Amino acid sequence: MRHVKLVLICVVALLLIAGCATPAPTATPLPPPTVVPSAVPPKTALPQPTAVPPTKTSGSTVGQLANLGQAVFTRSCVRCHGDKGQGGSGSALIGTQAQLSRYTNALGLLDKMRTTMPRGAPGSLSAEEYLQLLAFLLQQNNVLQANAPLDSSGLASIVLPK
Ligand code: HEC
Repeated sequence: MRHVKLVLICVVALLLIAGCATPAPTATPLPPPTVVPSAVPPKTALPQPTAVPPTKTSGSTVGQLANLGQAVFTRSCVRCHGDKGQGGSGSALIGTQAQLSRYTNALGLLDKMRTTMPRGAPGSLSAEEYLQLLAFLLQQNNVLQANAPLDSSGLASIVLPK
């Protein structure tokens, strides 16, 4: 008799455990999650860290620098070189009349600008602004494409075609 009681207790215990494990039949299914359009754009992959710590302008493209350079050009150069760089009291800097190849490469052109321009106030712009002006002139004269990277290193290898 004692044995039967033990078996019964075990059966009841098992039933209880089983009852707990199975979900209650009355449980209502959860409503499907509503998709809320988020205002935050999905995170884009972070740029890979480079070995050299970036300077203020490194990592920029010709197009990005040229956009800034155009504003500097309008402010400081247009009155002598024309609104399209076609020339005026100062030489032509953009287009077929421009003769920038006399500076051999981009570094030579940058030095010319840094040391003599704007006429009357040479060296009055920041190093970044001179680089932006350089990018603007190189892009406008089709020496470099907008998506090419540009920083102050390696300028000597950018040849100015005739
Ligand atoms: C007050 C007038 C004046 C302003 C402002 C001026 N320039 Fe000039 N620029 C000249 C004159 C004049 C020349 C020709 C004489 C010379 O090369 O120094 C010249 C020559 C140049 C040349 C050489 C062109 C060549 O064919 O050799 C470059 C490059 C140049 N300027 C860039 C600039 C830039 C960039 C700015 C704006 C930051 C600027 N200049 C502002 C008057 C000016």
